Amino acid sequence: MLIFNKKSELSAFLSPFIDQHKSIGFVPTMGALHQGHLSLLEKSLAENDITVMSIFVNPTQFNNAEDLDKYPRTLEEDIKKMSQLSHSIIVYAPEISDIYEGNTVSESFEYDGLEHQMEGRHRPGHFDGVGTIVKRLFEVVKPATAYFGEKDFQQLQIVKKLVDKHALPVNIIGCPIYREKSGLAMSSRNERLSMNARKKAAIVFEILQLAKKTFSEKSISDTIAFVKTEFEKHPEFELEYFEITDEATLLSADSKVSNQKYRGFIAVFIEKIRLIDNISLN
Ligand code: PAF
Repeated sequence: MLIFNKKSELSAFLSPFIDQHKSIGFVPTMGALHQGHLSLLEKSLAENDITVMSIFVNPTQFNNAEDLDKYPRTLEEDIKKMSQLSHSIIVYAPEISDIYEGNTVSESFEYDGLEHQMEGRHRPGHFDGVGTIVKRLFEVVKPATAYFGEKDFQQLQIVKKLVDKHALPVNIIGCPIYREKSGLAMSSRNERLSMNARKKAAIVFEILQLAKKTFSEKSISDTIAFVKTEFEKHPEFELEYFEITDEATLLSADSKVSNQKYRGFIAVFIEKIRLIDNISLN
């Protein structure tokens, strides 16, 4: 397994492959790898000549200092997990200074309004941080294709918009959410939950599935009210938002239009840890 800490060395290594038109698949992550990340790697390995994975906890996308501080950092274990899959994965695990060169701030991005919805509204500056890091990583790695999980569905749409607006030559592939046996969406933050909270957190997906059923029979406002009432029965959770949006624009929907695709998005806290999930509703 080749591990690079410096973008200059990674670029120098990749450059001959790019000259030979080898395809580079890229999986950007913040580490603490789980099966969801590994599924992105598997897809990239199957579809490309070379696969690069970045592991970098990007400070500029955190709007909460405690969340950044406590974000799991498990590089050694991550490398073990990757080597069980393949020894040919190229890892880029930089220090903050290699990416930000002494100026750890975000650039500001405009994503046609996608940034003002849900995660953007509740985590100010988050998508500027994501745009900054993803664009810089794309410039270093020069991937033909990059893989993102649908758990961060809004992030996936934002990255597609970033690529579009900046005419970046990268094909963006969204991959399905991986779930624990209980139904809980896999997330690096799950590592921070107590065993009890991790068990209880299965309720999030159970309620999303019930919301889907409710949506098929009732109105959007009834479905939203249903979810709120369900969470009131579980005071250990704090529901930050549940929204039903048009799948493409991510704008909140208040009435159903035929042939339109809708998705339900949720953010909840348990033990002060923020979990997000989403479900296709039709
Ligand atoms: O989804 C993530 O892990 C991060 O937001 C990403 C895309 C690696 C950017 O830091």
